[in-house]
Amino acid sequence: MSQMRLDKLLSELGVASRKELRDIIRRGRVRVDGAVVTAPEQKVDAERSEVSLDGEVIRWQRFRYFMMDKPEGVLSVTEDRRQQTVLDLLPEELRRLGLFPVGRLDKDTSGLLLLTNDGDFAHRVISPKSGVEKRYRAEVEGVPDERDVRAFERGIVLADGTECLPAKLETTGESVCFVTVMEGKYHQVKRMLAACGKPVVHLRRLSVGALTLDESLAPGGVRELSQEDLCKVLSDFAIGN
Ligand code: URA
Repeated sequence: MSQMRLDKLLSELGVASRKELRDIIRRGRVRVDGAVVTAPEQKVDAERSEVSLDGEVIRWQRFRYFMMDKPEGVLSVTEDRRQQTVLDLLPEELRRLGLFPVGRLDKDTSGLLLLTNDGDFAHRVISPKSGVEKRYRAEVEGVPDERDVRAFERGIVLADGTECLPAKLETTGESVCFVTVMEGKYHQVKRMLAACGKPVVHLRRLSVGALTLDESLAPGGVRELSQEDLCKVLSDFAIGN
């Protein structure tokens, strides 16, 4: 990695905006390899220098990983000319990280959405070959029953003939059910339930792998994932892979 301006490096790490950082640095709050640096334009080696803010070391991270509680009514794409996207919901300092959603949730689906700038991670989470389970809570018309459970176990054939992998349907005796799938075909959960005559009214993703949605997040809220969280998504995952 080439040398980079100190204010640019800290802004790319999501510490604060470039403007705020210029002030923070000039006030002497940032040290590079133990020495106070007051020039925002000072060049530093992002990977080798130890940079700290108010005494706390800021780790250089090439890749970043977050979970969002995606609200209904927002697109899970990186940009759209007319409609609000999940990236529009991020705090300003995180918008510079080059994050994108890991797979898609429909506009009217809420719940756990992973955001990262690590393409390999995203690919592995999405690929059915990785076997990462995605679990949803669905409110439907009608009451899913044992026949539906068995149809899911066999593998639902969608209205257009598309064959789905075997999946899990948990019923509650009411019009709420839980669906676990390993693939992410277009509108898959809605189409699977529709194929059983149980159209979806509301859909919310609860987990990806063993990582569950942090229900303390406000709608649209984000939190960074720890190494432990990431291993719940992909058990063999290590940051820096
Ligand atoms: N399946 C759907 O039908 N919609 C989603 O948003 C996710 C899975």
